[in-house]
Amino acid sequence: MDLFTGRNEMKGVILHGGSGTRLRPLTYTDVKQLLPLAGKPVSEYALLNLIEIGIREINIIVGEIGKKEVQDYYGDGEKWGVNISYTHQEAPLGIAHAISLVEDFVDDENFVVLLGDNYFQNGISSMNRSFAELGTDAYVALTKVANPSRFGIAEVSNGKIIKIEEKPRNPRSDLAITGAYFLRKSIFDVIKELKPSWRGELEITEAFQIMLDRGMKIGYSVIEGWWKDTGTVDEFLDCNRMVLDTLKREVSGNFADSSVSGRVKIESGVKIMGKTKVLGPCYIGKNTILQDTYVGPYSSIGPNCKLKNVEIEDSVIMDGSSIELTGAERIRESLIGSNVIIKPNDFMGLGMRLIIGRDSRLEI
Ligand code: TTP
Repeated sequence: MDLFTGRNEMKGVILHGGSGTRLRPLTYTDVKQLLPLAGKPVSEYALLNLIEIGIREINIIVGEIGKKEVQDYYGDGEKWGVNISYTHQEAPLGIAHAISLVEDFVDDENFVVLLGDNYFQNGISSMNRSFAELGTDAYVALTKVANPSRFGIAEVSNGKIIKIEEKPRNPRSDLAITGAYFLRKSIFDVIKELKPSWRGELEITEAFQIMLDRGMKIGYSVIEGWWKDTGTVDEFLDCNRMVLDTLKREVSGNFADSSVSGRVKIESGVKIMGKTKVLGPCYIGKNTILQDTYVGPYSSIGPNCKLKNVEIEDSVIMDGSSIELTGAERIRESLIGSNVIIKPNDFMGLGMRLIIGRDSRLEI
């Protein structure tokens, strides 16, 4: 970045590969980076982070799952005023493997890699400035975590990163490496030396450790504000809460007997009927119909859904789902995919009819 003009010649890379096993069954068919947070795919927030720091050349790395959907959604980037190209990672062989595929795209420029399922509350501008000022070989953003054995962990001393370990058994610090890496083309030679780890992946943390062993410098900051890796159901729901907490009220229309209170964002074409109550913070997508339904805090309802006689809070429902209940049950802390149908049975008074796929989870 040119510190005087703010022009950013750096390139941007957003990862959309991976297996997403921890978000199954959704990730059998859908790519986790496109799962919606308040009406936008998680990875669109990453794209907006890159745009905010002036990056215009962006490559999206797609895996097998959902590669068409990712390309259909982002297209050539014109909608956002940027150029987007794509690289196909044939198998989820690790973050460092994914990065190795963009060597030609990056050419001689410095570049930022963002994991498409990570969310940074305060964006990446201050990291971008620090990377430009420090001129280190790489730059990462760290954050304190409660369970360091689940993350890539950095040990720091006298303001320098001295060691980086992937999922350490005996962590030397609680500073996890988040999913934003500022890199130079020197990373590609380092990645060429990596061997697959015990989990069969080329690990970016190992590449960083090789850099440190060679005396190369990795700058860092401990990020302010919150950061989320949305790769599990609980973390995804937590991120949904945090994003909804930042919403402003955007409600128009007259909803007769229904009430809409608090920070609620309602998109066009939404019908709110009967004795419906919507209590923010929550998000209702385009053309969704709510009838005699309670939508409580921290709910995010996708477009083209139909909810009748439903009580729901603290949950995400994706596009095209239709839910009708008897009014006695409340849906909580749930993640419901696209085009799901839940309705009272129409064949007898008692009993349930369940048609659910592999790895579905019902807690009733
Ligand atoms: P992870 O969430 O660590 O891995 P995963 O996507 O395989 O999920 P799980 O552990 O639940 O099976 O990946 C971090 C990010 O990096 C995520 O955005 C996906 C991306 N990624 C790739 O693009 N290519 C890869 O080969 C891997 C392993 C991850």
